[in-house]
Amino acid sequence: MIPAAGMGTRLGEPVPKAFVEVGGVTLLERSVTAALASGVVDDVVVAVPEELIDRARQVAPAARVVVGGSERSDSVRAALAVTDADLVLVHDAARPLTPPGLFAAVVDALIAGAEAVVPGLPVADTLKRVDDADLVADTVDRSVLRAVQTPQGFTARLLRRAHESAQDATDDAGLVEALGVPVHVIAGDAMAFKVTTPFDLRLARLLA
Ligand code: C5P
Repeated sequence: MIPAAGMGTRLGEPVPKAFVEVGGVTLLERSVTAALASGVVDDVVVAVPEELIDRARQVAPAARVVVGGSERSDSVRAALAVTDADLVLVHDAARPLTPPGLFAAVVDALIAGAEAVVPGLPVADTLKRVDDADLVADTVDRSVLRAVQTPQGFTARLLRRAHESAQDATDDAGLVEALGVPVHVIAGDAMAFKVTTPFDLRLARLLA
């Protein structure tokens, strides 16, 4: 499932983020290509803004296309509704340089028995908790923290249950955590960074 229906407001480009190009190829097409190149994905569903359905079919002819929703989780739910797969990966279109091997590593962990798997990276910066006045309250122990990426992998049954529970979370694993089901973390990859800001887009264009 590739949620690609975000507007990309923080990026400030004239087209929705998934349709921005890096090296002449849209983020959406790059994400679909990486998923299929992994060799572990046999069906791709992308969720896009309604007005871009035709464009999505052009740039990602290998994928099935559905209309996304106003929140990311609505877009994931729309994609989930059209699959009968047993194992599902959810991957942000906004992570266009994700190595195909990361998809395979997530699937390996699912096949080994995990019900929920996320890639995560150690946090490099020192982290401070701040108060409303921007005064430092304390320093957080970063050794126990991970910056979590996609693709995130789940048994489809668990992911459906998590989305039906309608809790709020910034990623799919967050919904699974709310059910009390263990989420396994595997090694992430720096190349799976998310394009959110103009700086990220410059970085992607330099690295592509
Ligand atoms: O905005 P953000 O970068 O966190 O979005 C992550 C992914 O979720 C992007 O690929 C974006 O297109 C997608 N998304 C979506 N539907 C929304 C909001 C975001 O498919 N309503």
